[in-house]
Amino acid sequence: MTRPDDSILRTKFAERLCHWAVVLCFFLAAVSGISWFFPTVSWMSGLLGTPQLARLLHPFLGIAVFAGLCFMFARFVGDNLPARTDAIWFRRIRDVLMNRHGGEPLRIGKYNAGQKVLFWLIMASILVLLVSGLVMWRTYFAEYFPIVVLRLAILAHAVAGIGLILLILGHIYLAIWVRGSITGMVTGYVSRAWARQHHDRWHGELEAKEARAANAKGHGQ
Ligand code: HEM
Repeated sequence: MTRPDDSILRTKFAERLCHWAVVLCFFLAAVSGISWFFPTVSWMSGLLGTPQLARLLHPFLGIAVFAGLCFMFARFVGDNLPARTDAIWFRRIRDVLMNRHGGEPLRIGKYNAGQKVLFWLIMASILVLLVSGLVMWRTYFAEYFPIVVLRLAILAHAVAGIGLILLILGHIYLAIWVRGSITGMVTGYVSRAWARQHHDRWHGELEAKEARAANAKGHGQ
């Protein structure tokens, strides 16, 4: 789908809404989690009102992040499956990082190989966080598990939590680095030049689809 100014729809409204809702819930859950992990920043739990309120809300915010990511998983998994052409991106990683264009086309689909790796790591981390979080949730479930399971769950939760925060910091850095992608996630649209430069195979597939549609319209007249 295109707009009159010839930009391309990259992310639909429901997907964008979900992404930014996940960002908000993730930020609040992460801040409260960090405030218990590092005593020097315990003041951060005040961001959710009071430390008691943070304790109460943290698991629900985590479940909201999980639910949002389930929706995003369903919408984006198809474009994040490994493709043969991902090998080119890995092979040319230096050119990608140095923003050097030209030479052999990178044949990048809707998401590049790095985004795909990040996608699967984010999904794996949230699953570990959900399962371990439920096990250690004192109000409802913790009493059903032996202490050794609780200790393992607390360890897994801390490791996955810190891991996911680091992944998201990388994700934000890359979103800023690739100029135009945040605008894409806000408005839904990217320019054709952006698509051609960063996701050449995806852009080519869109053009082929448009040409087929125009052809079919021409035959119908
Ligand atoms: C300020 C924080 C964030 C910014 C600026 C940001 C930015 C973006 C942008 C620009 C995209 C689209 C990339 C593209 O079209 O190529 C994207 C996609 C995505 N974001 Fe974020 N994001 C943020 C936080 C998060 C968080 C906290 C999560 C999950 C916990 C997340 C999960 C995702 C996922 C799953 C995708 C789809 C990528 C794919 O399918 O490979 N983002 N984000």
